Amino acid sequence: MTYSALKEKQSLHNLPSFLLFCLVFFFQYTKEQAGEATKVAIDVGYRHIDCAFLYGNEVEVGRAINAKIADGTVKREDIFYTGKLWSNNQAPERVRPALESSLKDLGLDYMDLFLIHTPVEFKPGDNLFPKDENGKVIFHNTDIRDTWKAMEACKDAGLVRSIGVSNFNSKQLELILNAPGLKYKPVCNQVECHIFLNQSKLLEFCKSKDIVLVGYSVLGSSRVEGWIDKNLPYVLENPVVIEVAKKVGRSAAQVAMRYLLQRGIVVLAKSFTAERIKQNFQLFDFQLSDEDMQRVDGVNKNMRYLSIDRYVGALSACGEICRIIG
Ligand SMILES: NC(=O)c1ccc[n+]([C@@H]2O[C@H](COP(=O)([O-])OP(=O)(O)OC[C@H]3O[C@@H](n4cnc5c(N)ncnc54)[C@H](OP(=O)(O)O)[C@@H]3O)[C@@H](O)[C@H]2O)c1
Repeated sequence: MTYSALKEKQSLHNLPSFLLFCLVFFFQYTKEQAGEATKVAIDVGYRHIDCAFLYGNEVEVGRAINAKIADGTVKREDIFYTGKLWSNNQAPERVRPALESSLKDLGLDYMDLFLIHTPVEFKPGDNLFPKDENGKVIFHNTDIRDTWKAMEACKDAGLVRSIGVSNFNSKQLELILNAPGLKYKPVCNQVECHIFLNQSKLLEFCKSKDIVLVGYSVLGSSRVEGWIDKNLPYVLENPVVIEVAKKVGRSAAQVAMRYLLQRGIVVLAKSFTAERIKQNFQLFDFQLSDEDMQRVDGVNKNMRYLSIDRYVGALSACGEICRIIG
């Protein structure tokens, strides 16, 4: 099934997706809170749950989804679950076992969407962040097209309905799109995207290839100490966004997300606060005018909150890697 068909089926473009916390939030939230937030989100009406093996909470999230299926709130086919293949599992023979392990944790028979989490590969093995004796992350160089073939095989085996990528730039996408014998195109590319990094070039490229761009950190990220530079401007404090929000009678968060939705971007928004989970769902009963869209567009500065060096905590090891992340 194509992602377009999925979008139609799941109204993915019309649902802000509920993004669950990743590794960086271990210090702030418990896994149980992730489960509770998942239940709140499903009750509110969210149907797309974006998660990953790396986040370490697939057991709790799967339990919450299954509880909501068991109590009759939703059926399995109403839920659109996205999972991700972490960088230690890109060797082709590790892809299916990684997916099966996630499915077992989740208590699900299949995922709706499975993504290669980043184009960067670490040394294959069970260590999520393999490091050498100097504490530097050990990278590896499986041809990403071979990883992709293994992803295709997972789809053929019925373990996942659609496959895609995350943090890819256009060159990396082209590598897969032009791979000899390509069976399935990536249906989406999940990347950092917000008013300060509006990804207009990558969006144009993705649209031209019928690849959906999915945005994360749309609210300006969770601003976790040590993971982002707190001196960077914050989406929700941007004067233009605040002014437009006042004008349309909405919150800054709603305007920041609505701006992306109107450009055809799928929006992921993470919150563990029930009131915000509800607020972030109220995006479909208002519109930004062309003039307001242009004003928000003018805020772009190609500024990134998350870089792979911070992400893997291997600043000295990944000068090259930073340049290839989408
Ligand atoms: N694919 C990838 O490689 C990748 C990379 C990085 C991150 N991600 C994913 O992106 C997710 C979220 O990204 P992010 O942390 O950068 O998040 P974000 O969605 O931009 O921001 C989340 C932060 O905004 C707050 N928030 C939510 N709704 C709000 C509202 N209406 N008003 C004010 N504040 C609000 C949340 O606080 P409360 O929770 O307290 O409400 C949280 O602190 C991560 O959990 C991870 O899953 C993916």
